[in-house]
Amino acid sequence: MWRERRRQPPPQLRLLVAAAMVVVVGALASAAEAALQVGFYQDKCPIAEDVVLEEMRLILMEDATLAPSLLRMHYHDCFVQGCDGSIMLRSRKGKTTERDALPNRSIRGFDAIERIKARLETVCPLIVSCADIIAVAARDAVYLSHGPWYDVETGRRDGNVTVAEYVENDLPPPDSNIVDVKTFFSVKSLNSKDIAVLFGCHSIGTSHCGPIQKRLYNFTGNMDQDPSLSPAYAAELKKLCPPPRPGAGDEGGGEGKTKVPMDPGSNYTFDLSYYRHVLATGGLFQSDASLLDDPVTRDYVEKVAKALSPDEYYADFAVAMVKMGRTDVLVGDLGEIRPTCGIFVD
Ligand code: HEM
Repeated sequence: MWRERRRQPPPQLRLLVAAAMVVVVGALASAAEAALQVGFYQDKCPIAEDVVLEEMRLILMEDATLAPSLLRMHYHDCFVQGCDGSIMLRSRKGKTTERDALPNRSIRGFDAIERIKARLETVCPLIVSCADIIAVAARDAVYLSHGPWYDVETGRRDGNVTVAEYVENDLPPPDSNIVDVKTFFSVKSLNSKDIAVLFGCHSIGTSHCGPIQKRLYNFTGNMDQDPSLSPAYAAELKKLCPPPRPGAGDEGGGEGKTKVPMDPGSNYTFDLSYYRHVLATGGLFQSDASLLDDPVTRDYVEKVAKALSPDEYYADFAVAMVKMGRTDVLVGDLGEIRPTCGIFVD
């Protein structure tokens, strides 16, 4: 008890420190907001966003499955060390980077970002950051998947701090409950509404069987199924994802290659059906189903599923994506602009 007291500064000092921290944090936050702006490259490289969109059209014509993966890349970049392009850095001798951490191994599209970067380097060398390319490519991925267009703030600079272990610490796992999800997101200043809105990203793309095996076959350790999953949907998923074979690793059945749609029936169209899917079936992951366990997130899911027009949801989506895109950004003189996103500048 005594020791505890000795460690605490007097209450007046604690208040002063807290007040000072509010001022500093507030100043940092508003500095980030002031430096990030729509059209940041307008005078430095006016064609930057056009180049990204043009390349994205070509990239997705070659492989439409890269759209969801590039959207996911932006989320994983922002949640780990901030939206700073550090997800792109390749591991090098003695240093395993975020890119090679388990949750990022299923992300594809690193070459696509590098291809866009290479083209931008020919027109505006060392001007456009990898972090901004990822943020703009994510917007274009949504737009080119028949989703909304929204203005992306730019002006991020690239970070070179990348620690593989941070990835699993900072990203909630797919078996998260709503309390876990809210904790992970609140650390990034994202609230319950932001969570409900951003989960709509699962309107496009696919998942491997690994993240749902436990939900399907061994939910509580008694070879049971998650009761929040509708029996009909579970039966469908079980056809695609057979029980994991001993020694087959995390991915389990289907040689680890099988992929299941996140939003069956429209998994390459960005729309509102994800919310109807979650309400009717419990969604693909426990974390999707967890939206139904909190009054704010549940209310939002019901609203989108039953009442909201696409335009109303898309307006919320734009706000939440812009907010996520501000997470711990490097701006002004901080960070760097790398010539190649995946290679450290020594
Ligand atoms: C609790 C939060 C979240 C969890 C647990 C989660 C988990 C996952 C998992 C396990 C996959 C499948 C990966 C695979 O096996 O290939 C996935 C896919 C995906 N996630 Fe999330 N996610 C979360 C939030 C988000 C957010 C906020 C976004 C967007 C801002 C997002 C966008 C995507 C997309 C687009 C895919 C499909 C990727 C593809 O088809 O390649 N996720 N997510």
